[in-house]
Formats: sequence, C-alpha cells, structure tokens
Amino acid sequence: MAKRMITTELMEEDIKLESTLRPQMLRDYIGQQKAKEKLKIYIEAAKQRGESLDHVLFFGPPGLGKTTLAGIIANEMGVNMKTTAGPAIEKPGDMAAILNNLQEGDVLFIDEIHRLNRQVEEILYPAMEDYVIDIVIGKGAGAKSIRLELPRFTLVGATTRAGMLTAPLRDRFGVVSRLEFYTTEELTEIITRSASVLNVEIEEEGAVELARRSRGTPRLANRLLKRVRDFAQVKYDGKITKEVANFALDLLDVDKLGLDEIDREILRTMIEKFHGRPVGLDAIATTIGEDSGTLEEVYEPYLVQNGLIIRTPRGRMVSDLAYKHLGLPLLEEQS
Ligand code: ADE
Repeated sequence: MAKRMITTELMEEDIKLESTLRPQMLRDYIGQQKAKEKLKIYIEAAKQRGESLDHVLFFGPPGLGKTTLAGIIANEMGVNMKTTAGPAIEKPGDMAAILNNLQEGDVLFIDEIHRLNRQVEEILYPAMEDYVIDIVIGKGAGAKSIRLELPRFTLVGATTRAGMLTAPLRDRFGVVSRLEFYTTEELTEIITRSASVLNVEIEEEGAVELARRSRGTPRLANRLLKRVRDFAQVKYDGKITKEVANFALDLLDVDKLGLDEIDREILRTMIEKFHGRPVGLDAIATTIGEDSGTLEEVYEPYLVQNGLIIRTPRGRMVSDLAYKHLGLPLLEEQS
C-alpha cells in the first residue's frame, strides 16, 4: 500500500519534527481535557505521597499524543523515561533485563503494548503488581526460580487496539485513559503553537484551514504545517495565509474534510456499488481491494468520527453528508 499524505501512523519525517514540537509539561499540552484533568490529580497525589504514579494505559487512534503524554508524566514526576515497544521485546529475558535496569520511580513506556508476546507479558504481571520478577535458572529437575526485587516504577502502555489487550494485563493498569480526536479549535491552537516554535508566520485563518483538514490528529496537523510552510516560502512571501493553505492542501490532495483519494473511493464504492445501503465491511474491503482489518482500523475510524459513514447493526451505511461531500445526488433525488 502506498503511503498516504494523511496517514496518522508515525512516518520517518515526523520523528524530528515531533521531538521539537512535543510539549514537555501538562500546562503546555492542548486538548484531551478529560485525560489531562485525571492525570493532573493522580500526579499531584502521587507526588504528595512521595510514591510512584500508578500504571497508566493510553489507548486510541495513532497520532493523538500517547507518547507525548508518557513523556509529560515522566517530566511532571521528575523521573527518567525508558522507551520500548511491544514487538521489540522478543524474549522474557529481554523484558526482565529492561525492568532490572530501571531506577526508582522511572517511567517505562511500552508502545504497541498489545503486541507483546504471552511469555514476555507474563513477566510483567508480578512486576506491575508487586515490583518483583521471577527468573527461572537452569533446566529440568535442577531448575530454580529466584525472585528479584525491582525499584518502584510506572508502566505507561500505549495501544491503538485496546480490544487486543489480554484481561490480566489490562486489569493491572490503575489508570486507563482513552484519547479522543481533537476539535478544530484545539488543532488550530496546536498549529499556532507549532508555527511559533518553528518560527513560521501564520494567519489565524490559515491555521483554521490546516486544522480542518488534519483529521482531528496533531501528528498530521504538524506534518501538514511543515509542508504548507514550504509552499509559503517558495510561492508566497513565507507567511501561511488561508490562500496558501488552501492551495497547498488541494495540491497535496487533502480535501476540505481531510479526506484523500482512498477515503473518497471508499465512500464512492459504498454509494455507487451498494447504493448507500447497509453493507458488510468484508464486501467493501473486497471491492476496493483492501483487507477488512485495515479498512476497519485505518480508514474507517475517521470516516465514522466525521459522520460520513454510519455503523448500523446491518452493516455500514454512508450518510447524506457523504453524498454532499462528493457532490453526488442523494438516493431519493435519483430517478
Ligand atoms: N503538539 C502535538 N500535540 C500537541 C498537544 N496536544 N498540545 C500541544 N502541542 C502539541
């Protein structure tokens, strides 16, 4: 599958940008009001008691700030953060080594935590619960289990697939926080802040235009900002106005709602091949040549969030808004 301009997955080009733009403290973090309020209280309470923060699980679509919030937790608690990812830890021994190297109070951030394998995950249970690991030494009749004490630490897990977490792992998180798509107002604020960090001049209306087309996702907002900045620099006098934003985003094939050609093809398929009536995910997937898992997790969430696709017990339907957005006549208007 070709990479989409509007993918919210982490791309190579985002890494440096994100580390520059990432807010360091809770007060600089825009949006996610609910998650932020809860975290603020838990952090304050843990600090008052002189304890480490309870284990935290963040879940939600990519690019919404899970890694950023993990870093903020570490900064607010005044501790170090070690970062790893589910697929990177292959053996129980690797997990044991990571845990054994933690310092008192550290944050251990595990991205894509749903991808830990079972044996590795089992090392985590006693570590999270009692701050110990049990290591088996030797084989067969001579095998011995020894218990290692760990420093107190905070595990911060992140996943885009909360449903794929096993119950024993999920149950060991004291704080479970769902991240939501950002509003246009919040994204406008983030874009304005990012522009100021990057030293780019931007008009409010330019920021709003970028925000509208950023799919509720700061990662994409910042990536588009960087691209639009290039247009502003080369074709205009460096300032991002509404006109530059519109010109650049149209050229990048990111439409007024932040959809690209694939999104529009999905909607068009549902309208033209299935007459906008409820249709199963598999049927749509087959028609557009994608697998249904990708369709459900990569393409669909934003289309649902935006009210273009409606999930019904009988299948997926397109809304009137989708017809309108594509400039197609509604079913009842067709003869
Ligand atoms: N950059 C990316 N996400 C952000 C957020 N939520 N607040 C401020 N700056 C950000």
